[in-house]
Amino acid sequence: MVMPQELPTARCPVAFDHNSPEHTARGPLEVYRELRNSTPVAWSESNGGYWVVTSYAEVSEVLRDAVTYTSGAATDDAGNYSGGIFVPAERGLVPMIPTEVDNPQWEDFRRLLAPRFSPTAVWDYRPMIAELTTHYVDQVIEAGECDLAVDIAAAIPASSVLQLLGIDVAEWATYSEPFHNALGYPPGSPEYAEAVTGLQGIVERIRELIARRRRDPGADLISHVASAEIGGAPIDDEAAMSVVYTLFSGGVDTTTTLLANAFAYLSRHPEAREFLVSDLSRLPVATEEFMRMFTPVQALARTVRKPAVLGGQVLSPGERVLLSYASANRDEATFPRADECVMDRMPNKHVSWGLGLHRCLGSHLARTQVELILSEVLTRMPDFSIDEQRSRQYPNLGIVNGWVTMPATFTPGRRLSTRGAA
Ligand code: HEM
Repeated sequence: MVMPQELPTARCPVAFDHNSPEHTARGPLEVYRELRNSTPVAWSESNGGYWVVTSYAEVSEVLRDAVTYTSGAATDDAGNYSGGIFVPAERGLVPMIPTEVDNPQWEDFRRLLAPRFSPTAVWDYRPMIAELTTHYVDQVIEAGECDLAVDIAAAIPASSVLQLLGIDVAEWATYSEPFHNALGYPPGSPEYAEAVTGLQGIVERIRELIARRRRDPGADLISHVASAEIGGAPIDDEAAMSVVYTLFSGGVDTTTTLLANAFAYLSRHPEAREFLVSDLSRLPVATEEFMRMFTPVQALARTVRKPAVLGGQVLSPGERVLLSYASANRDEATFPRADECVMDRMPNKHVSWGLGLHRCLGSHLARTQVELILSEVLTRMPDFSIDEQRSRQYPNLGIVNGWVTMPATFTPGRRLSTRGAA
């Protein structure tokens, strides 16, 4: 085994900043390809200095070792945020639970949430998600045009998460917009500032909802969290708020991003669309390939907790490490024909759900949402065609590979549901 003291500690910094306009303008995949081929564990002086990890082997190594690499976040008395899953740390606004806690606390929180997100639990949510899907497709089907990114990809996942939390689904946009904009716009932009204010408003609303459910509990997820015991004592208000905030954050941007990218791909590749339309049972396998190709969450961070060697580099405690899931997913050493969307690719060991301790809690829910939504769209509006000129991705693709807008047209159809407008 190579010991840290045997390795050269001199760093040759690379020019890299995933939050910069250049990163998005050049195309994240191109930037990552260069790094992966030259310096898979590279040091950048941007954002206060951080490591950037781009190879599948090393991204997986870090994700599987939550002892050496912590996700833990902390806020000091002055409100300064440190650690956590973002670089720079200040991009985090509320310590997210369970995402940004280590063991032993992590296990308590994960145990609290896991039964509500298990395959069995999610199976019971299918009728609710299917009904919402039919409802939102009904809203646009007669017009023969819609914004696929907003009216379908954003509305349905956000509404189903709101429904699980016990919140009126008509409020889906109020809850989801600040999350989209906080990740889709660069810090310093007016949209980002507005999103931060919006998120602060959401934190306050969550606090009120928790207080209300403590007084008057129901069967919903907020009541479940509000009445939990953690470490043998009732969960405190701040922890309950953080858990609910994390469920919003995990639930409103990610599935949306996957769907929007799948719509764009299927609109541009008629043969891939036909492959699915002719046999919808191919959707689950194809969804995993969309996950690999489009990697909704592009990159998240850890903090080094003890001296480590990674890809021949010496990492010191306190240093930040950005893990590029997007790059790992295109690593030719792991994925043959890595840049091709192979709709029936199996096995498919992509890292888009994360890996190890913090692997996505909502993966079964997200898979079900994607399967039901894609299958309804491919059945009821199979000839949809996106307007390439007017479609726009997030101005900042450093963290989420999202879309602001995706106008589309299709042959009009008839409404199916009797549910009122949301
Ligand atoms: C396509 C959709 C989704 C993607 C791509 C995605 C991606 C991820 C990733 C990459 C992580 C790991 C974070 C890390 O390594 O630090 C994660 C964790 C998590 N996700 Fe998801 N997610 C999706 C859907 C959802 C949904 C629908 C929910 C719930 C409503 C959810 C809730 C969570 C939670 C609570 C965690 C933290 C798990 C823990 O720390 O134990 N996610 N997700």
